[in-house]
Amino acid sequence: MQICVIGCGYVGLVTAVCFAEMGNSVTCVDSNGERIAALEKGISPIFEPGIEALLQSNIAGRRLTFSSSLAAAAPDAEIVFIAVGTPSASDGAADVSQILAVAQALSEHLSKPAIVVCKSTAPVGTACRVQAILDQTSAGLQHRVVSNPEFLKEGDALNDFMRPDRIIIGTDDRHSQRVMHQLYEPFVRNHDRIMFMSRRAAEMTKYAANAFLATKISFMNEMAAFCDEFAVDVEQVRKGIGADQRIGHHFIYAGCGYGGSCFPKDIRAMLHMAETQGTRMPILEAVEARNQLQKEWLFRCLQRSLGQDLRGVTVAIWGLAFKPGTDDIRDAPSRVLIESLLATGARIQAFDPIAADNIARCYARAVAEGQLALGDAHYAVLNNADALVLVTEWKQFRQPDFALMRTLMRRPLLLDGRNQYDPQQVERAGFAYHGVGRPA
Ligand code: NAD
Ligand code: UGA
Repeated sequence: MQICVIGCGYVGLVTAVCFAEMGNSVTCVDSNGERIAALEKGISPIFEPGIEALLQSNIAGRRLTFSSSLAAAAPDAEIVFIAVGTPSASDGAADVSQILAVAQALSEHLSKPAIVVCKSTAPVGTACRVQAILDQTSAGLQHRVVSNPEFLKEGDALNDFMRPDRIIIGTDDRHSQRVMHQLYEPFVRNHDRIMFMSRRAAEMTKYAANAFLATKISFMNEMAAFCDEFAVDVEQVRKGIGADQRIGHHFIYAGCGYGGSCFPKDIRAMLHMAETQGTRMPILEAVEARNQLQKEWLFRCLQRSLGQDLRGVTVAIWGLAFKPGTDDIRDAPSRVLIESLLATGARIQAFDPIAADNIARCYARAVAEGQLALGDAHYAVLNNADALVLVTEWKQFRQPDFALMRTLMRRPLLLDGRNQYDPQQVERAGFAYHGVGRPA
């Protein structure tokens, strides 16, 4: 099939390479010319394990091309995917202006009837708004708008896309159902996991899924705080409840809060959607509030250990991305910690295998002034540090040499924001240890 994907970010690029891999002819469009220039050379603008190999093989196989011009790329497409950003507006609403701008442009450039697929996460009713734009302005052409939300997670995105748990197709239109089924069939050949529903239900399903996952995490973080009150190790409780299949082991890891480009913004968007309907979602309000507390926990814990005034203190940070396997720092817990430390005049020495450059760009002034140093090895940032904070649990931090670390650091204090270490082992190495919901 002739496919056009608009937006070459995490979702658009993964969508494009995976459809190309299945033998479709895909053109990927982005308004960012630098992204397109890099992509044409087979260089991915995002870090996602395995993506460059697929990118390069599909470019070489002539199944995948790139363009910065929608006018040039869209006319021949049978299916157009919209995978642009839907960031939070200042009031928390999902800003759908990028989607609507693309719809407007499509209405001018599509030269034959197409299926236009909304892949971005957007409030209920957005696909209908896109349909209305296309209906109004296309010269007699009947385009069909489908909602097909994406459920991939960064760091494992190719696997999620190639072997999806389910594919949600929101449309009542028979022709669109047939074409979308044909397109996705190679991904679910052995198990039919394609679900058809209304456009509005598809849009709502995406938000409900993210809200449920975020709720599991915030619930567990609240349990961790509760465990602290009773000197109980939340890790034991996690294993105990996770064994119940109705609860499950996934997404019940207590930590320093959820980040990323989606959970925080999607929860905010849902709260805003509720407000516009004159209703409230008290559970989601609590999920958001707990997450905020959780992100502040590392800094509060440092102050409890080292004193309120952290001027002259050096804090080492391991891990800056919002989770391992990605360079994405959007709404990352590391940023709440960095900003609090910078505001109090502490010095930071941080390491991340992939996301350090993004953090350096974000805090260029602190880097220039020497308040934030980004090291190129994880032990190097421990020199003369008064504390080490583990924020992102990259695998390479899993089994460190605590004895060596003890000799490098000025003070032996370890804050484990992801409950990665055995408290007794760390304490035997001479460290004071604090985990999330773990008694000292
Ligand atoms: P992103 O910011 O990484 O990428 C969006 C891309 O769209 C950018 O490259 C931008 O330059 C491009 N763009 C914006 N306006 C454009 C226009 N008019 N024409 C062409 N290109 C344009 O975003 P993302 O993380 O890929 O997320 C996209 C959507 O998918 C969001 O709604 C998000 O909530 C949703 N989503 C994201 C993930 C994820 O893991 N990142 C997972 C599921 C769903
Ligand atoms: C999440 C969802 O998992 C995807 O299904 C969804 O498609 C995506 O959002 C989206 O809509 O964009 P992602 O944000 O890439 O994917 O990452 P997750 O693995 O879900 O992690 C999100 C955050 O939760 C991370 O900060 C992670 O550290 C935290 N987390 C996760 C916990 O604190 N505890 C857990 O048990 C699991």
